[in-house]
Amino acid sequence: MSNEQPSSRRVLVTGGGGYVGAQLVPSLLAAGHAVTVLDTFWYGIGVLGPVAAHPTLQLVTGDIRSAADVRRSLSGCTDVIHLACISNDPSYDLDPTLGREINYTAFAPLVALAKDSGVTRFIYASSSSVYGVKDEPEVTEDLPLTPLTDYSTFKAQCEEILLDAVDSDFTGVIVRPATVCGYSPRQRLDLTVNILTNHAVNRGVIRVFGGSQYRPNLHIDDMCRAYLQLLAEPAERLQGQVFNIGSDNLTVDAIAQIVQANTPAATDVVHEATDDLRSYRISSQRIRDALGFEPRLTVADAVRDLVRAFSSGLLPDAMTDPRYINIARMREVLEGLPNAGGARR
Ligand SMILES: NC(=O)c1ccc[n+]([C@@H]2O[C@H](COP(=O)([O-])OP(=O)(O)OC[C@H]3O[C@@H](n4cnc5c(N)ncnc54)[C@H](O)[C@@H]3O)[C@@H](O)[C@H]2O)c1
Repeated sequence: MSNEQPSSRRVLVTGGGGYVGAQLVPSLLAAGHAVTVLDTFWYGIGVLGPVAAHPTLQLVTGDIRSAADVRRSLSGCTDVIHLACISNDPSYDLDPTLGREINYTAFAPLVALAKDSGVTRFIYASSSSVYGVKDEPEVTEDLPLTPLTDYSTFKAQCEEILLDAVDSDFTGVIVRPATVCGYSPRQRLDLTVNILTNHAVNRGVIRVFGGSQYRPNLHIDDMCRAYLQLLAEPAERLQGQVFNIGSDNLTVDAIAQIVQANTPAATDVVHEATDDLRSYRISSQRIRDALGFEPRLTVADAVRDLVRAFSSGLLPDAMTDPRYINIARMREVLEGLPNAGGARR
């Protein structure tokens, strides 16, 4: 990914201080793109520390709900990768009004301001949760969307807003990623593979609720590579397209076995009953056929990367620090605790 040939692009990454963003921003810079990050930095600005002094990186501490912050961030940008979000159901449900403002109300103005300021490509991180639960073993992009929560409903509605805004000067493309896994400088330990690996390494036990449910997965480096490819593709291959992106659909039991096999200490797997056996599987054939994009990494790679990060001290206090768990950090932000930043303006 590292070529450092300057490109003529400046990419605005909203939410660039999040789990995906903190891994993506260095990759974009390494690929030669100039980058602006707009983020409230609820997880700290230090997550971008290793690249903070990069000459073509601009960091804007601000809020996508503020037109002034968005305008300032868009200055000179050619592309937008929109990640900023209250990015799971439990965090969303803590304050549904705030969730709606960020995940839905702010979206149309963001798209309009991006168009006005001369952005030519807008890449939107939707989610494969827009499908709800489907019986089909291969969930393709043309199946009807039946989102089950507000978080997923607003993801689906923002997709429509973007598709309505595209024109010959403004390319919109939507990705519906699987659940991302692996190490990032802004670590999330509230996502399936990451949770199980954390518990295996730091507790020596994995608790599996049910186990037969399928989960689609994607290594974080493949997620970042997909965004880089979406910047590089000619506009006509992307205009108005929607792409699932995932590698393997695995049962939670299979994920637990992979974690067990790739963590150094003996790990017990304990099964617990659950009445929530919802299964999710996605097909990523469309992006393979249309763009030749193939994930290169597996869940086992993500587990090994996390084990290395734990053993080299990159993830201190993994069982207790709220910054690893979105809902715990959002509680702090909403309560206005020190270092929480301003959730409201
Ligand atoms: N991580 C996954 O498994 C996954 C899967 C599918 C889709 N996605 C989508 O990808 C995107 C990134 O996910 P992530 O896991 O990196 O999430 P994350 O929660 O780690 O990052 C979100 C970032 O957005 C910032 N943010 C929140 N509200 C903001 C606001 N009003 N203004 C500016 N910044 C704000 C937060 O500070 C945070 O840095 C999200 O849109 C998410 O829905 C993620």
